[in-house]
Amino acid sequence: MVPAKVFLWAYVLLFVPGSIVAQDLGVNWGVIASHPLDPKIVVQMIKDNGIKKVKIFHAEPQVLDALAGTDLEVMVGIPNESLKSLSEKYSVAQAWVKANITAHMGKKRVNFKYVAVGNEPFLRAYNSSYNNVTLPAMKNILKALKEAGHGKDIKVSTPLNGDVYYTTSYRPSDGIFRPDIADIMGQICQFLDQNDSPFIVNIYPFYNIYLYPGFPENYAFFGSDDSSAVDDHGTKYHSVLDGNIDTLVSALKVAKFPDIPIIVGEVGWPTDGNIYATTKNAKRFYDGLLKKMAKKEGTPLRPKTYPDVYMFALLDENQKSIDPGMFERHWGVFTFDGQPKYPMDLSGKGQNKSLVGGKNVQYLEKQWCVYNKDAPNQKDLNVKVQWACNNTDCTTLVPGASCSGMGIEMNASVAFNMYYQIANQVKEICDFGGLAKIVKQDPSNGTCKFPIMIKTSQTTSNSTLAPAPSNSSNPHSSSSPSTSHSSLLIFQFFVGIFTLWFA
Ligand SMILES: *[C@@H]1O[C@H](CO)[C@@H](O)[C@H](O)[C@H]1NC(C)=O
Ligand SMILES: *[C@@H]1O[C@H](CO)[C@@H](O)[C@H](O)[C@H]1NC(C)=O
Ligand SMILES: *[C@@H]1O[C@H](CO)[C@@H](O)[C@H](O)[C@H]1NC(C)=O
Ligand SMILES: *[C@@H]1O[C@H](CO)[C@@H](O)[C@H](O)[C@H]1NC(C)=O
Ligand SMILES: *[C@@H]1O[C@H](CO)[C@@H](O)[C@H](O)[C@H]1NC(C)=O
Ligand SMILES: *[C@@H]1O[C@H](CO)[C@@H](O)[C@H](O)[C@H]1NC(C)=O
Ligand SMILES: *[C@@H]1O[C@H](CO)[C@@H](O)[C@H](O)[C@H]1NC(C)=O
Ligand SMILES: *[C@@H]1O[C@H](CO)[C@@H](O)[C@H](O)[C@H]1NC(C)=O
Ligand SMILES: *[C@@H]1O[C@H](CO)[C@@H](O)[C@H](O)[C@H]1NC(C)=O
Ligand SMILES: *[C@@H]1O[C@H](CO)[C@@H](O)[C@H](O)[C@H]1NC(C)=O
Repeated sequence: MVPAKVFLWAYVLLFVPGSIVAQDLGVNWGVIASHPLDPKIVVQMIKDNGIKKVKIFHAEPQVLDALAGTDLEVMVGIPNESLKSLSEKYSVAQAWVKANITAHMGKKRVNFKYVAVGNEPFLRAYNSSYNNVTLPAMKNILKALKEAGHGKDIKVSTPLNGDVYYTTSYRPSDGIFRPDIADIMGQICQFLDQNDSPFIVNIYPFYNIYLYPGFPENYAFFGSDDSSAVDDHGTKYHSVLDGNIDTLVSALKVAKFPDIPIIVGEVGWPTDGNIYATTKNAKRFYDGLLKKMAKKEGTPLRPKTYPDVYMFALLDENQKSIDPGMFERHWGVFTFDGQPKYPMDLSGKGQNKSLVGGKNVQYLEKQWCVYNKDAPNQKDLNVKVQWACNNTDCTTLVPGASCSGMGIEMNASVAFNMYYQIANQVKEICDFGGLAKIVKQDPSNGTCKFPIMIKTSQTTSNSTLAPAPSNSSNPHSSSSPSTSHSSLLIFQFFVGIFTLWFA
């Protein structure tokens, strides 16, 4: 009988790759990148890893086309900027639903499950700009969905940041909604309750550590020892994520909507651009999270089921705003080109397994642009490096990052290469006043990796990046990166929660 059992196991391992945890696990798929990975490759990756849920921030047609015909559950976002017009005019909501939902409901349909109206609209830092428009926009979208015949299958919600609630003590059981928006939250909860929609919340233990280096590590990383646990009238919390979720559960109770289901819309750990943003920490965080999810237990206040959790994020995005910090471009569990960064076992068994990476990714030539120490004229090196950094992604150079502390020559190589790769390896780009040269041997050293850019559908046309000006007093400025998911201003929340950090 033994061989049969072994065979069965092999079958299970091969055909249910992510197993039980992956079923409840989603991913955030953002595309704020100079060279987004082909959506078809991305969808295959998601499927290969057994992940069933995907959250996207915009209804990009190419992304939706790639998701069409799969059974992946899709949460599609609507940007904050649209909230006002959606709230004011029902016809705008009708048009949005028609173009971005109904149009993808043909033969090969997208399995839409949620529309996320706005993204963290009540962050304090937004100065209440969206307070009055979010719920009306949600209502209009729901009405339009119903009219289009999708009111039952597609739920409407809005992903909120953890700063909409807090605890008046350090205990999760003392959670309430923020007083300035308590009324609005009450109305939103009523809407969610009436329409069987989930409360979606984004929670970032990374920020607890990043902003407050004294924060107990075990509590951030799902440790099990009691010394860092929070005691809430005898209930022990071992992780800040659980504490945070139960603070929300308590706030919902106070608002008289105790049963609204909760989804964690974003949670994750970045791997570069800061001393705490390392692959080691990211692995530790996800190991803890996945083990926790595998137990199939809830939190102390909702013991039966753990919320669905969407990892932030699937891929690194090199054009995200660095306002929140240099780590902002490194949230991916995969690199920009779809390669796994560290072992991750989606079964939650903590085994040394690798995620399945992107297949058939097309790269540019195996060549790099690096500093040329033999160049006759070495003056202005610093200026050239600064210029390159001003116009490309140098987030790996800052203290604590993967290419930090390796000297000005390495700085130059990293900056020149990044500029050159993002410019699709156009030969003329690798100049920098004669200080750069093209090499065929990988200059990577230790943690400092030199990427080669991938081919995208746009790669065939010439890059829009220009070579560095020969004169540094005339800095050319490339288009500034667009902004991003708004963990941007999350820190405001954590400033507030400093005294209450255990929630
Ligand atoms: C949310 O609103 C803020 C402020 O207008 C903006 O910076 C951010 O990009 C928005 N995020 C999304 C996903 O719409
Ligand atoms: C559909 O969504 C896209 C992406 O967010 C947006 O640009 C477009 O305006 C939407 N269409 C309509 C008709 O609202
Ligand atoms: C919020 O107000 C502050 C100070 O008045 C201002 O600097 C900031 O730009 C405002 N932010 C938004 C998103 O309106
Ligand atoms: C939102 O509505 C309230 C009450 O009607 C009003 O006092 C407030 O000024 C409005 N806020 C904004 C940003 O329009
Ligand atoms: C995990 O697996 C990888 C690749 O198979 C291997 O290189 C690494 O040493 C393993 N790590 C541990 C801790 O076993
Ligand atoms: C880089 O950007 C900074 C800040 O915008 C600016 O002060 C500096 O002159 C720029 N340096 C170069 C060489 O372009
Ligand atoms: C890698 O970096 C180390 C430390 O900066 C340096 O000593 C070594 O020479 C480098 N190796 C190569 C191959 O460049
Ligand atoms: C390399 O670049 C980083 C980031 O700009 C900077 O902090 C560091 O001082 C630079 N190193 C040298 C030797 O110039
Ligand atoms: C790209 O630029 C090079 C020179 O910079 C030029 O020779 C070539 O024709 C251009 N190709 C396209 C497709 O524009
Ligand atoms: C660079 O700029 C300086 C001062 O702005 C000027 O004197 C010099 O002629 C310029 N050099 C070139 C090559 O344009």
